[in-house]
Amino acid sequence: MAAHPSAGLGTHDGHHGTHNDLHSEQGALPGEHPGRAANPVIKVHDIAWLEFFKPDLGRAETFAQAFGFVTSHRDARELHLRGTQAGAPSVIIRKGSRSRFLGPAFRAADTRDLLRLAQATDTRVHPLPQTLGGSVVDLLDPSGLRVRVVADTDDLPALSGQEPQRLNFGGDLDRVNDTQRPPCEPAGVRRLGHVVLQTTSYLRTLNWYLEHLGLIVSDFLYYEGQRERGPTMSFIRCDRGNTLTDHHTLALTLGPSDRYVHSAYEVSDLDALAAGGEHLLDEGYKRSWGIGRHILGSQIFDYWRDPDGFLVEHFADSDMFDSSLEPGWAPMSASGLAQWGPPATKDFLGMAPGRESLAELRSILRALRSDDNEFDLERLRGLLKVATS
Ligand SMILES: [Fe+2]
Repeated sequence: MAAHPSAGLGTHDGHHGTHNDLHSEQGALPGEHPGRAANPVIKVHDIAWLEFFKPDLGRAETFAQAFGFVTSHRDARELHLRGTQAGAPSVIIRKGSRSRFLGPAFRAADTRDLLRLAQATDTRVHPLPQTLGGSVVDLLDPSGLRVRVVADTDDLPALSGQEPQRLNFGGDLDRVNDTQRPPCEPAGVRRLGHVVLQTTSYLRTLNWYLEHLGLIVSDFLYYEGQRERGPTMSFIRCDRGNTLTDHHTLALTLGPSDRYVHSAYEVSDLDALAAGGEHLLDEGYKRSWGIGRHILGSQIFDYWRDPDGFLVEHFADSDMFDSSLEPGWAPMSASGLAQWGPPATKDFLGMAPGRESLAELRSILRALRSDDNEFDLERLRGLLKVATS
């Protein structure tokens, strides 16, 4: 497998037609979705933060600290959680009557892009509160989720955090006359990496993100035997030209309801992730699935349930792409989620008996009865096959 020519660099000027040899079995067939818009309104630079409502800010903060966040702001109504990287907070939690995901915020290049976006969508640019600084355009995506696009927010300065371990790779010795003693402590979160969302209007929603925010698809997945009906999941990255960006900043998947699936936060390396996992177990939190290495994005991953049942991921060592790579195409399967690690759990797949799977069952019945979405009986059959393939 060829290494990416720009590995370790911030930019490069080589070009690839496809990345079939890099991370997927094959590229698009003639006439399939191109995975990018010809002329998007703007091209966002990154995901900025996620916003949630939660009934108990104290409980949320206790979990957040065990997970590896640092509190950057806390008052009676609001909690801001950050990683060690400079920038805006990664998570904003507001006090609310029940636990709910409000939506993502993406970072635009500058306020001019906000004005362009506001004009194209017939909305307005608003100032953000003083705790964040900068400006925002608030939009609704076709699934009904609030999507914020922000610019010029106040940067929190970088914090010193966990340094990656010095590793001896095979005969390549980086650590001599010294021991390896990774600290047993919470994994230090560096930054927000991505959010995964499920929607009944997958294709409409995908196209909206490509056309409005200039995101581009890294990988498409389709239901086995249903490729001709189009993709049912995509891993989507920012288009930053030659600047490297995460394999996915957003992932969208077709399903019977519109909901948050999980969000992922980068830690420095495998030792930090594994030791941080031991700490979460010691504190009584529940691992959903891990530790393993994904295929699409290649991250080393570990999934956890927060006290409200929301899925959150620690990750390390993810694929970084520039804008030159074309989308890969692969069938969707549970076994295709990881290169190594334990099999995907029922909890991770949302099939463990409990409130969540009951709610999903009700959603399935509702989605099948309604014509106003992309989820039908054939798609349900495809989805059910994913869990066992
Ligand atoms: Fe993830």
